Amino acid sequence: MEPYRIKVVEPIPITTREYRERVYAAAGYNQFNLTADDVTIDLLSDSGTGALSAEQQAAGMRGDETYAGARSWFRFREVAEDLTGYRHIYPVHQGRAAERILFTALLEPGQVSLSNTHFDTTRANVELVGAVARDIPCPAAKDLDSDEPFKGDIDLVALEEALSGPDDVGQVLMTITNNGGGGQPVSMANIKAASKLCRKHGVPFILDAARFAENAWLVTQREKKYQDRSPRDVAKKAFRLADGCVLSLKKDGIVHIGGMLALNDPDLAKQCELLLIATEGFRTYGGLSGRDLDMCAQGLVEVTDPLYLRERAEATAYLADCAREAGVDSVRPTGVHAVYLNAARLLPHVPPSRFTGHALASELYLAGGIRCAEVGSLYLGEIDSSGELVTPAPFELVRLAIPRRVYTRSHLEYVAETLAGIAKNPEKVPGYRLTEAPAMLRPFRCRLEQV
Ligand code: F0G
Repeated sequence: MEPYRIKVVEPIPITTREYRERVYAAAGYNQFNLTADDVTIDLLSDSGTGALSAEQQAAGMRGDETYAGARSWFRFREVAEDLTGYRHIYPVHQGRAAERILFTALLEPGQVSLSNTHFDTTRANVELVGAVARDIPCPAAKDLDSDEPFKGDIDLVALEEALSGPDDVGQVLMTITNNGGGGQPVSMANIKAASKLCRKHGVPFILDAARFAENAWLVTQREKKYQDRSPRDVAKKAFRLADGCVLSLKKDGIVHIGGMLALNDPDLAKQCELLLIATEGFRTYGGLSGRDLDMCAQGLVEVTDPLYLRERAEATAYLADCAREAGVDSVRPTGVHAVYLNAARLLPHVPPSRFTGHALASELYLAGGIRCAEVGSLYLGEIDSSGELVTPAPFELVRLAIPRRVYTRSHLEYVAETLAGIAKNPEKVPGYRLTEAPAMLRPFRCRLEQV
């Protein structure tokens, strides 16, 4: 059961199918165009959508809004330093700001960034500085159904080859957990081996640690050597195997806004600090208010509580199990922050060119007011200017991202029941065609129609 009780509640909109059909059509069948009032259960993102604890709110009240050298900053730095061990800690307003600052200082045009999988903003920030983002996930990641415990790992053979080859590798970025790769964890053995290879070749090894606590939890559950260690110990060790991190605190900081860049290299840190002051804010607040910093510090303490992590992992697994029983498969083994539904298996009559994942995500909204995100050809496929799919994505998935401490099991049961309803007559689910297909940031800006 949840190791907390609910003190503040917020009503959620209960709508009819007729209403949802109307507003979804007006939204160009793009869930990013829906508003909060249109959505009953919002599984679009686990980012910035969590519930604050009473202690976090109390910490927020203690927030010190002094411009430079605020007490909140020192409290934030103490927690961040203790957790990560890095010498230079910079707050930023969210994860992508840390990415932009670090890559601007670290990467040269033409250099390669290697990763188990770059998250989409991460990839964009690598490309914006003229570098090349290359994903080298481990081979096990290809099989959606296997129960390999660490399908988020980087391919160590490919990493060694790339580091020894002719390419100028500017950084190796390990995303924990691997959000772009089905929310799968990375083992400590893999982090250690990647770290060793990077040190051997003199290449900076950076963690994208947005879900560091959930990764640490899965390590304690799936990697024998760590089964008696606390998630906090595991997380601490992971940070210490890298040269620095970019971290969106909107995930495992359990705050509505916040991020962090942390580094060991003093010269690199100095360059980043200049960019931080010019574009985010002075080094002791980096675009956050004092109350944000205090709530982040408290969130970073709460998030590694094994009781919290266990319940969150079990709730996500419960949703995946209920869906599977109803005939809707998802990427195995289930991770923590999200369930990735296998839309291609449920809707074989909707080809990738008719956006299988989007079709299932749309039906979840129409049938139940549940909002979620497609991770398939609409997002990752190659699409021409007329909106036709040229190269499909490797998978047609739908991500149900679970906000932290927000929905109860009964909400998740409702999601599972809605899925079960769809699975009874999957052939009724229509496909979609693009009517507006912008070249950049397509999922956020496109419009579609049913076919
Ligand atoms: N890295 C990972 C692995 C992420 O999942 C995200 C955000 C970021 C970096 C960027 O952080 O949003 O604070 O700027 N992921 C959100 C999601 C948006 O829904 O998965 P940000």
